[in-house]
Amino acid sequence: MSSDVFYVTTPIYYVNDKPHIGHAYTTILADVLARYNRLLGCPTFFLTGTDEHGQKVQQAAIKNGISPQQHCDDTVVRFQELWEKLEITHDDFIRTTEPRHKQVVQGALQDLYDRDEIYRADYDGWYCVTCERFFTEKDLVDGKCPEPGCNRAVERIRESNYFFRMSKYQDWLIQHITDNPTFIQPDFRRNETLGFLRKPLGDLCISRPKSRLAWGIELPFDADFVTYVWFDALVNYISAIGYPGDMESFRKWWPASYHLIGKDILTTHTVYWPTMLKAMGVELPQAVFAHGWWLAGQSKMSKSAGNVVNPMTMAETYGVDPFRYFLMAEMTLGQDASFTEQAFVKRYNADLANDLGNLASRVIKMVRRDLDGSFPSACSAGPDEQDLVDATLGAVGHMESYLSAMQLDRALSEVQAAVREGNRYFDKMAPWALAKQGDREALARTLYSGAECLRIVSGLLYPVMPEKMAELRRALGLAGDELEPNVARLSTWGNLPTGRPLDDIKALFPRVDTKKTAQPKPKQKKAKKKTQAVVELIDIEDFSKVTMKTAKVLEAAVVPDSERLLKLQVQIGAQQRQIVAGIAKYYAPDDLIGSTVVVVANLKPAKLMGVESNGMLLAAKSGKALKLVTVDGELPTGASVG
Ligand code: MSP
Repeated sequence: MSSDVFYVTTPIYYVNDKPHIGHAYTTILADVLARYNRLLGCPTFFLTGTDEHGQKVQQAAIKNGISPQQHCDDTVVRFQELWEKLEITHDDFIRTTEPRHKQVVQGALQDLYDRDEIYRADYDGWYCVTCERFFTEKDLVDGKCPEPGCNRAVERIRESNYFFRMSKYQDWLIQHITDNPTFIQPDFRRNETLGFLRKPLGDLCISRPKSRLAWGIELPFDADFVTYVWFDALVNYISAIGYPGDMESFRKWWPASYHLIGKDILTTHTVYWPTMLKAMGVELPQAVFAHGWWLAGQSKMSKSAGNVVNPMTMAETYGVDPFRYFLMAEMTLGQDASFTEQAFVKRYNADLANDLGNLASRVIKMVRRDLDGSFPSACSAGPDEQDLVDATLGAVGHMESYLSAMQLDRALSEVQAAVREGNRYFDKMAPWALAKQGDREALARTLYSGAECLRIVSGLLYPVMPEKMAELRRALGLAGDELEPNVARLSTWGNLPTGRPLDDIKALFPRVDTKKTAQPKPKQKKAKKKTQAVVELIDIEDFSKVTMKTAKVLEAAVVPDSERLLKLQVQIGAQQRQIVAGIAKYYAPDDLIGSTVVVVANLKPAKLMGVESNGMLLAAKSGKALKLVTVDGELPTGASVG
C-alpha cells in the first residue's frame, strides 16, 4: 500500500458456483482494505465480478435447457445479492460476457497473434474438464489431474490449437519474482511459484475448438475457436479499468496494488498472468496475495460432504458485521483457518458482546444517567488514563502497520486489546462510586475517556463492521461527516465533541446463548443437529438431488416375522419395483392395493429384514398417527413430485 492510489481486485468467481464462504472471505477482505484506504484518504478502486465462459457454464445451460447467456444472467444475481447483503462497496462488477471485456480480450489476442506471440500447433495431451486445463504426461499425479484438491480423471485430447509463447518468458519471470520480493505474497507462496518455475515452462494453449466448446470469446483470427477461459478471465483486471480504450483511467489505477486470490489459483496469477502482461507490454501488478482456505473444522469444505458454510445464512443468523469481523479476525492471512459455528459464537461473545458491546453500553448508559445525557467538556488525559491512551492510540499505529503487512488478524487483536483496556480502566476508576460520591469532575473525565476509547476503536473497526460502528458512533454523539472516521482525527486523543445529547443504545451485540450452539458430540445425531444451523438449511440444488415420483401400489404383503414391515410392488411409470415400508401397524395390505402414493425413487437399495427395498414411501407422522402422502386427484404413475 505504498503508492498514491489503491487498486484491489478479487478473483472473478465462476458464475454458476453457489457463493460460499471462500468467495465471501476474499470479497470482504478486499472490501475492508478498500474501506481502510478510503479512510486514509487514498483514491481507491475495488473490482470484483464473475467469470462466465467455459465448459461448466455451457454444460449447466444445456442441462437447464436455456442459453449460456441466460444461465449467466440468472446466476450472477446470487453474487450481486450477496455482495449487497454483506455491505460490499466495490466500484465495479465486471462480467466476462460484457462487450467491454470481450473487445479487450480480442484486441489483445489479435495484437499477440500479429506479433507472433501466439502460434498454431497440434496438441496431444491430457485435459481436466473440471479445471479446464491441459497437462503433459509428466504433470499428472498418479495419472490424474495435478491441481491441488482436484485429483480427477483426465481425458486424452488430440487437436489443433493456438498457443501463447509463455515458455520464452520463463527466465524473465524468475528474475522479476526474485527482484521484487513483494510481488508474490506471502513469502512461501513466492517460493512455491519459483519451485514451479524450476521445471521447464511450456507454452500455454489459449484456444478451444468450437466443436468441443462453443461458449467463449471467439478468437479474432480464427472463428473456429474460442479463447481458453483463463486467458479471457485474467484480462478482467485491466479491461475493467479502461485498458486500452481509456488510458487515462487505466494509468490512474494500474498497476493493481493487490490481486487477492486463494492459494489454489496461484499459478494462473503468478505465471500465466505476468507472462501475458509482459507479452502485451503492460506493467505487472504490484502484488498478488494468496490467502489460505477455510476448512469446516479440520476438513475440506465440499458439496459432497455437505459442510459448505453459506455466508448468507451466517449473515442472516448472526448479523452481517459480526460475520465480517469473525472472518477477518480469525484467519491469519496466508494460512488455512477453521470455521465452526462454535468458534464463531465464542469469538462473538468474547470480543463483541462481552468486551466492545459491554464498554459501549456502560459508557453511554452512565452518561445518560449520571451526566445529564452529554459530556460537559473535553477532558484531557491524566496519569490514570495513560494506559488507556497508550493502548488506544497504539492500536491506531498498529492498524496501519499491520495492514500494510497484510496482518489483519493482528491489527484486530490490538484493537481488541484497547477495548479490554477500556473495560479495565472502567473497573479501576469505578465511575459508579464517583457518581455516588458526587465527584462530577472525575466522573466526567472517566466517562469521557471511555468514550474516547470507543470513538477511536469504532473508527478503526469501521472498515470491518461499517453498520454497527456507525451505530456506535452515532450513539457517541458524532454526526454528519464525523460518522466516517478519518485517520487524522483517530490519531488524536480528545476529539470527541461535547455538549451533544447521547441517545440510548440498544445492545450492539446481544450475547448469543452458547447452549443453543453447544459443541456437537461426534456421532450423536441430536447434538449435531443443534450445532449445524449453518449447514442445516438446504438449497434447491440439495433438494433437487431427491427424486420423488408418484407410484401405484400393485401388490402388498406382510413381511414374514415382522410386525412393522409391508412389502409392496409398485408401478413407477414403466418400471415395477419392490419397496419395503414400516407401515404395517397403520395399513392392512389390502387397504393399499390400487392407491397412488409418493415415493423417493432414487434411494440406494437397502435390505430390511432380509428383503430388498428399492425406494421409500412418503408418509406424515404425528404422535401415534401415520398417513401416507398421496396426490390430490388423478395422475399417471411416475409423475415428478417436488
Ligand atoms: N474463476 C476463477 C478465478 C478467475 S480470476 C481471474 C475461480 N473462481 S472460483 O469461483 O472457483 O474461486 C474463487 C476463489 O474462491 C478462489 O480464490 C478460491 O481460492 C476461493 N476458494 C474456494 N474455496 C475456498 C475456501 N474453502 N476457502 C477460501 N477460499 C476458497 O477460481
